[in-house]
Amino acid sequence: METDFTVEQLRAAAADAVRAPSLHNTQPWRFRLRDGGIEVTLDRERRLPATDPSGWGARIACGAALFNLRLSLAAAGTPAKVRLRPYPTETDVLARLTPDAPRRPTPAEQSLYAAIPHRFSNRTPFWPDPVPADVRWRLGEAARAEQGWLELVIGVSAVNAFAEIARSANRVLERDPAYRAELADWVRTAPAPDGIPAAAGGPLGEPQDLLPSRGFGGRDRAPGRDFEPEPLVAVLGATGNTTTDQVIAGQALQRVLLTATDAGLGVSMLSQPIEVPGAREALRLSLGRFGTPQMVMRIGYGQPGSPTPRRSVDEVLDLPVARA
Ligand SMILES: Cc1cc2nc3c(=O)[nH]c(=O)nc-3n(C[C@H](O)[C@H](O)[C@H](O)COP(=O)(O)O)c2cc1C
Repeated sequence: METDFTVEQLRAAAADAVRAPSLHNTQPWRFRLRDGGIEVTLDRERRLPATDPSGWGARIACGAALFNLRLSLAAAGTPAKVRLRPYPTETDVLARLTPDAPRRPTPAEQSLYAAIPHRFSNRTPFWPDPVPADVRWRLGEAARAEQGWLELVIGVSAVNAFAEIARSANRVLERDPAYRAELADWVRTAPAPDGIPAAAGGPLGEPQDLLPSRGFGGRDRAPGRDFEPEPLVAVLGATGNTTTDQVIAGQALQRVLLTATDAGLGVSMLSQPIEVPGAREALRLSLGRFGTPQMVMRIGYGQPGSPTPRRSVDEVLDLPVARA
């Protein structure tokens, strides 16, 4: 007979879920128990109306948090069955998890789980060391295991063509005062439980940079410490672009990120070419494949860094009210 998930299990798994990445570190998720199942809901109050009018980024973040939640439950020996978008009329309930048969975690689950606290966005220049073929293959497998796909942009001319798309998307976004104001609003110069700490923003952009960085503030770079001239760029995508596809892409993204962390790699995300519809289409055409690009990553070996802050678990849980 199936048992229900408990508040303790929800709390422990949500503590891992909140380590997921999110646009500007907005953390647009909530977790609750309903009829013995754990549900992941999108928090509309934490959406970014100018940067993310469709809610794509918020659903990617919730999908990434869902992956951590599943992994955490599996690592504790209490894996879950997952239904995405379980209630057709409640569009912000993105997933419902119910208990599956208890079992020991697999070695792969254990190593991905161990990577959760060590993953962070590394926006500093990477070393020139190439990412070995077997590691590239593992990253692709990670995306495929979650029904996503990963295309590596290989070769100088392909990387330059991608960079042109990304820079023009960034210019389009930066022309919008509401976008700039939202970005400035989420940069933190004093300790805060959300937003981007100025120290995590990476070096300030310079004219010779191939890829655009978000204007998170950041610091001047040391002389000679430019970004790698031929970065390893990876595009993650899904079969389509429905809200369910975006949640699937979020899970695939998190599996790729944790696989990279486990392999000792640093990753930064750049989503400007996803946010501008024309750029996203140009990117899709340049890859020559079906499906919809959902995220772009720069991957390499880099300097150590540290995780960014999160709100406490209690702030993101909706617990059942006890009856008197
Ligand atoms: C949908 C999405 C889009 C993102 N886009 C960018 C981006 O364009 N540039 C960037 O530097 N980081 C981007 N990030 C990374 C977030 O800023 C980062 O996850 C957040 O600040 C939390 O920090 P952490 O990744 O170190 O935990 C994105 C993350 C998500 C989920």
